[in-house]
Amino acid sequence: MKYIKIPNSDIKASEISLGCMRISKMTNQEISGLVHTALDEGINFFDHADIYGGGKSEERFSEALDMNPSLREKIYLQTKCGIRKGSFDFSKEHILEAVDGSLSRLRTEYVDVLLLHRPDALVEPEEVAEAFTILQNSGKVKYFGVSNQNPMQIELLSKFVKQKIIFNQLQFSITNSGMIDAGINVNMENNPSINRDGSILDYCRLKEITIQPWSPFQYGFFEGVFLDNEKFPELNQKINAIATAMGVTNTAIAIAWILRHPARMQPIVGTTNPGRLKDICRASGVELTRSEWYEIYIAAGNKLP
Ligand SMILES: NC(=O)c1ccc[n+]([C@@H]2O[C@H](COP(=O)([O-])OP(=O)(O)OC[C@H]3O[C@@H](n4cnc5c(N)ncnc54)[C@H](OP(=O)(O)O)[C@@H]3O)[C@@H](O)[C@H]2O)c1
Repeated sequence: MKYIKIPNSDIKASEISLGCMRISKMTNQEISGLVHTALDEGINFFDHADIYGGGKSEERFSEALDMNPSLREKIYLQTKCGIRKGSFDFSKEHILEAVDGSLSRLRTEYVDVLLLHRPDALVEPEEVAEAFTILQNSGKVKYFGVSNQNPMQIELLSKFVKQKIIFNQLQFSITNSGMIDAGINVNMENNPSINRDGSILDYCRLKEITIQPWSPFQYGFFEGVFLDNEKFPELNQKINAIATAMGVTNTAIAIAWILRHPARMQPIVGTTNPGRLKDICRASGVELTRSEWYEIYIAAGNKLP
């Protein structure tokens, strides 16, 4: 496993992170098996949110691992807040309350990173700034980031928030590559040229904000997995050919495609299967060539102008 020094922090994170959104219904033994596989593979970064499994994912994670200071020191824990039933909420009161809830469920004194989960239309950045400062001063949160935010939203936040925004978690995969399409099709009259995200990829590179691609195997909005899916014959043929030549599985190639991008992104994978996780981690040793990267991009149905 390779590690990335996350800019503007002292975090040295595994370049692949394990997302814990889907673990709430697993048994203790299964969760422990999955997380210990992750640790054995060199994964040291775990992504949570207060809402995953209605709070159960955080709770079950720490229970299954019997969270203790020695384990806690070895891993980075990231969680998110700001989504409530029927609304988004970046109020100071909610952020503070949500973090206390996560700390208690994760059985820890601090989280390494707190992300604001989805943009709140009613955000008051001054309030977010107050909340972040309180959380940092109390030692409850070390670093801060956002998720699903565009450049101007981050700019607005950064005008008030004293801490650096170190991560932006965004949907990104071979089949959800809008962040890249618009940059390749600048000023064209086609659909891929539509800039839907305010050039978030270049903005994050410029500001040294590490992008964490979420759902790296899904197409659409949780419509399913594109690998071994008959809806994507050409793409699977291409990925499988490269995987066979390299002696790894198609899962590793899907992640290697993300890791090949020079933005040094940190994909968050959500498998609950230890065997699959091991296969995915092989991606860390695979370096796709420039032409392989483009061949996969084109096989996904994208055209170069
Ligand atoms: N910030 C946000 O708004 C946001 C949104 C969504 C997710 N996230 C984060 O991103 C993480 C990953 O999301 P995700 O779970 O949707 O991502 P994912 O890794 O793309 O999908 C994992 C799911 O796909 C299944 N799967 C089936 N075939 C697979 C294959 N060949 N390779 C890999 N997976 C296969 C897995 O099943 P098995 O378990 O059986 O392997 C699992 O249910 C979450 O845990 C969460 O931390 C963040």
